[in-house]
Amino acid sequence: MQSTLSKARITALGTYVPERVLTNFDLEKMVDTNDEWIFSRTGIRERRIAGPEEFTTDLCVAAVENLIKRYGKPIQDVDLVLVATTTSDYAFPSTASQIQARLGLENAGALDLNATCAGFVYGLHMANGLITSGLHKKILVIGAETLSKVTDYSDRATCILFGDGAGAVLVEYDEENPSFLSSYMTSKGEGGVHLYRTGLSKQMNKQELQNPGFMVQNGREVYKWAVTTVPLGMKRLMENSDFTLEEVDWFVPHSANLRMIESICEKSGFPLEKTLWSLEHFGNTSSATIPLALEKGLREGKLKSGDKVMLYGFGGGLVQAGLLMNWTLAG
Ligand code: COA
Repeated sequence: MQSTLSKARITALGTYVPERVLTNFDLEKMVDTNDEWIFSRTGIRERRIAGPEEFTTDLCVAAVENLIKRYGKPIQDVDLVLVATTTSDYAFPSTASQIQARLGLENAGALDLNATCAGFVYGLHMANGLITSGLHKKILVIGAETLSKVTDYSDRATCILFGDGAGAVLVEYDEENPSFLSSYMTSKGEGGVHLYRTGLSKQMNKQELQNPGFMVQNGREVYKWAVTTVPLGMKRLMENSDFTLEEVDWFVPHSANLRMIESICEKSGFPLEKTLWSLEHFGNTSSATIPLALEKGLREGKLKSGDKVMLYGFGGGLVQAGLLMNWTLAG
């Protein structure tokens, strides 16, 4: 995808995380682990956990309400709601349909998409395509998860990683000042066995599924795949654009594990100082990590309108998705 083709711009951002904080010290009381191990292996100190009656739709609505406040005008002209999530309140109806109803978006279509931790980037890519093609004018893209509800809190190798959160952006038609510069995405379905949540099928690659309803992970394999695949993908993303990595102001990878981000930066030659992540206080919130990191960048006065930003999602599937963008929002 080349820059001249895009006619879509990000015009607003909103985020939300639940109130309850689960620290590494809290986890010490739940499984055989300790703060030092978790922080040194992952960079995570704490994560947010949704209440027993708080679900992904609730997080999405709160994030969109935050977005509306900052946008400063109603969003009744939104014509599509796209929600990237793996933890929809129900198998169906979709989270997007629930949000459409709760926010009274009477002119909007609604659908959920599942690309795990790359979901927010895939959502932006689809919104850009649908707006640029002229099919839609204003799309709400949301990445949101309540992973705590599908986390096995007796599995110390996974429960230390995940948390809950939501981020929403508005993507609108704008021919003059588009946000989207280039994209690159791939899937390696054979690797699905390394990170999955049980569904209707009883087998994964001929192996019996474990832990019904919960996430199952081979952390080592996911780690190896990410730190070898993402640097190559970043290279391809830049080749698809008119820019070089040196011209990128901020890299916003999926916040899974700080050691992974450091390795990706080292292998790609991208400076860690120009990288934004949200994992220290929120853990891995899957499709919400990237908007939460963008929020942090804005709040800390790092991310500025006009910056070149490289978003890069990767995760279960296995899938990866990168977008090079012209950042168009002020803090
Ligand atoms: N506390 C203390 N010890 C732990 C532990 C914990 N929370 N979790 C695992 N261990 C132990 C293991 O039991 C193992 O012990 P052993 O050597 O006696 O068998 C040892 O630590 C090493 O385990 P290993 O799984 O090899 O650790 P690791 O260095 O690979 O770190 C992860 C584990 C999960 C932190 C790491 O693999 C990871 O982050 N992978 C990527 C996962 C991910 O990002 N998933 C989402 C992608 S979107």
